[in-house]
This record gives sequence, structure tokens and C-alpha cells, in this order.
Amino acid sequence: MSKILVTGGTGFIGSHTCVELLSNGYEIVIVDNLSNSKEATVDRIEKITGKKVTFYNVDICDYDALSGVFRENDIEAVIHFAGLKAVGESVRKPLEYYTNNIYGTLILLRVMRENDCKKIVFSSSATVYGMNNKAPYTEDMPTSATNPYGYTKVMIEQILKDMCTADSDFSVVALRYFNPIGAHSSGLLGEDPNGIPNNLVPYIAQVASGKLKQLSVFGDDYDTSDGTGVRDYIHVMDLAEGHVCAIAYASEHKGFEPVNLGTGKGSSVLEVVSAYEKACGKPIPKKITERRAGDIATCYADATKAKEVFGWEAKSDILQMCVDSWNFTKLNPDGIQ
Ligand code: NAD
Ligand code: UFG
Repeated sequence: MSKILVTGGTGFIGSHTCVELLSNGYEIVIVDNLSNSKEATVDRIEKITGKKVTFYNVDICDYDALSGVFRENDIEAVIHFAGLKAVGESVRKPLEYYTNNIYGTLILLRVMRENDCKKIVFSSSATVYGMNNKAPYTEDMPTSATNPYGYTKVMIEQILKDMCTADSDFSVVALRYFNPIGAHSSGLLGEDPNGIPNNLVPYIAQVASGKLKQLSVFGDDYDTSDGTGVRDYIHVMDLAEGHVCAIAYASEHKGFEPVNLGTGKGSSVLEVVSAYEKACGKPIPKKITERRAGDIATCYADATKAKEVFGWEAKSDILQMCVDSWNFTKLNPDGIQ
């Protein structure tokens, strides 16, 4: 039976998507170099689904190893999560980001071509809307970037578009995620960042668990309802379901299709803090600090296209996302071991 190759499948979004794929009857093969995840995640995916997963500890930049994976498995389509994703780190280490994300994708596309595999779902990001568009973002807006991480997403989208121009049988869905948070309801999978978290909800989770003292709220003088930044938070399981829709869509349509995965609704930092307090039943100590460089006031999706083309829409609200994040945090004080 043909299989779906999931690059970066032991990572945060990849692991939840693997669960959703297996639950929908797909067979999967995971390739991950474990640079930002643990092999124990594979056992957890198997535990939740009761299904077997083929895992390769392989770097997508390694042409020979990746070719071997395609030789050993009949790969029908790829979901491509593998990549480095920390915006600040990408400014300090541009070469590492361009090499890992872009060179890695080029190797993957070359191996796909050599094996006549012509369907790919790519993890893009709302970051491609840059600083010059105004929310709600629609897929036809011009893309741009402000940091190397963002440029890797803009450039990979362009490369994929060019692949579709060169080969009319090629099929690409570029999923532009907004802010994925939450965890699997079992508490077996969730977000497990290395070191001090950069992102809001993982940071709040560590304040709630007592690992960190207080949250810094980066600015309360934005032009938003309460002055704090507004983002479109989306439950990672809703996102995972969106990938199953994208794979089905890619098997029936050719060409390049960018699709937003968001709820279409923004929440402020203070609204998220208040939902998390409700979820964990205790106050989250916080202080207002300076704005973080590079942040924008408001970012949320126009989620119409996903509904039209996939029949998909996000179901969970912000409280559910915080409840599931807290459940994972409580059950895994030292992350996934
Ligand atoms: P993650 O770091 O948890 O997962 C990425 C996985 O890719 C990790 O398991 C890592 O070990 C693996 N990986 C990295 N480089 C690799 C390589 N060269 N070869 C093999 N494996 C490699 O991140 P995530 O949050 O699950 O994000 C998945 C994708 O979604 C990324 O491409 C990211 O840029 C994109 N994205 C994430 C967010 C977010 O807020 N989490 C938002 C928009 C887009
Ligand atoms: N924030 C705080 N304190 C913190 C962390 C964040 O106040 O400790 C605020 C930010 O200023 C922002 C909001 O919380 O207003 C969300 O910040 P995140 O860092 O969680 O998320 P971003 O929207 O900044 O960035 C995320 C991903 C990027 C991606 C971008 C667009 O981390 O990779 O969404 O999709 F590019």
C-alpha cells in the first residue's frame, strides 16, 4: 500500500498530524533528524492510535539516506514539516536556516522527482504576509518577509510554485498556519520546546507549572482592544485535521494552492492569559514590558478559503486550547521522555 511520508513527523505539529492521518486510515513513514524532538514521540503516536509507524532518524539534507527511504517505501505523497522555526535564532544563524530549510527542501524535491512522487503539502506560515498587509489576511495578498526564517517560507513557496509551472502534474498545498497551540487530549503529545520558550502559550504553561516566575507581556500600547498583541490561535488538532483535508485535496487537484489554517478570530495576550488562568485554576503572574522587536499589533486569518476548498473549519475555542495545553504540561513536567 502506498504511504504518506511525513518529514518532521516527531515535532509538535507533525506528531499530532500523524495521529490524525493514522486515524483516517493512512499508512505513514516519518523522517526526522530529532534536532528538535524526541524518538519517544513515535511510541506515543503508536500508543494513541494502536497502529505501527515506520520511523527513520534521517536528515532531509542527506540525499543518500532520503533516497533509501523512498526505495524502501512506496511513497504516494509528502507532508513536509521538517525545518528550523525560531525567528530570533534565524537572525543570528541565517546560514543554518537557509541550509536546513531551503537546501533540505531542494533535496526532498529532487528525491521526490526521481521517484515520481508529485504531491506535497508544505508547512508555510502566516509570517509570509509580512508587515505590509492588513488582517484579516487572504491568500491572494502579496508575500514578503522580515527575517531569515520568514524568507525561507516565502522562498520555498516560490520554489514549489515554479515546480508546478514546470510540471503540470505536480500538486502543492502550502498551508499557512497562524498560531498553533494546545495538545492532544490524551496528554501524550504536546509542545515541548527546548530551553526557555519564545512563544506565548508554552511560556505561560511554564509559569503555570512554576518553572518560570512570571510572563512578560510584550507591550500594552498597540492599537488593539486592550493594547496587547492580537493573534489567531488555533488548536493543533484542528490544524492536524486540516492536513488530512489537504492530502485528500492534493490527490485530486494539480497546481499550487496556498491555504490559510486559522480560526479567523483574534485573541489578545491578556485574553489568552485569562483563558489559561481559567484552565489551570491559578493566577499567572505577569508584568508589562517593552514591545518585542519585529512584532505586529494584529494578525488573524481570513479562513474562508479552507472552508470552500477543503470543507474544513477550526472547532476548538481558546479555553479548550489552554485546557489541553495545561493537561499536557501537568502530565509531562519534563516534556516527552
Ligand atoms: P518542531 O520543531 O516541533 O517540528 C519540526 C521537526 O522537524 C522537528 O521534529 C525537527 O527535529 C525536525 N527537523 C528539523 N530539521 C530537520 C532536517 N533537516 N531533517 C529532518 N528533520 C528535521 O516545529 P513545529 O511547530 O511542529 O513546526 C512544523 C513546521 O511548521 C515547521 O516547518 C515550521 O516552520 C512550521 N510552522 C510552525 C508554526 C508554529 O508556530 N509552531 C507556525 C507556522 C509554521
Ligand atoms: N508574547 C508576549 N510574551 C511572551 C511571548 C509572546 O507578550 O513571552 C506576545 C507577542 O508579543 C505576540 C503574542 O504574544 O503579541 C504571540 O507571540 P508568539 O511568539 O507566541 O507568536 P508570534 O505570532 O509572534 O509568532 C508565531 C510563530 C512564528 C510565525 C508567526 C506567524 O512563532 O514562527 O507566528 O505565523 F512566523
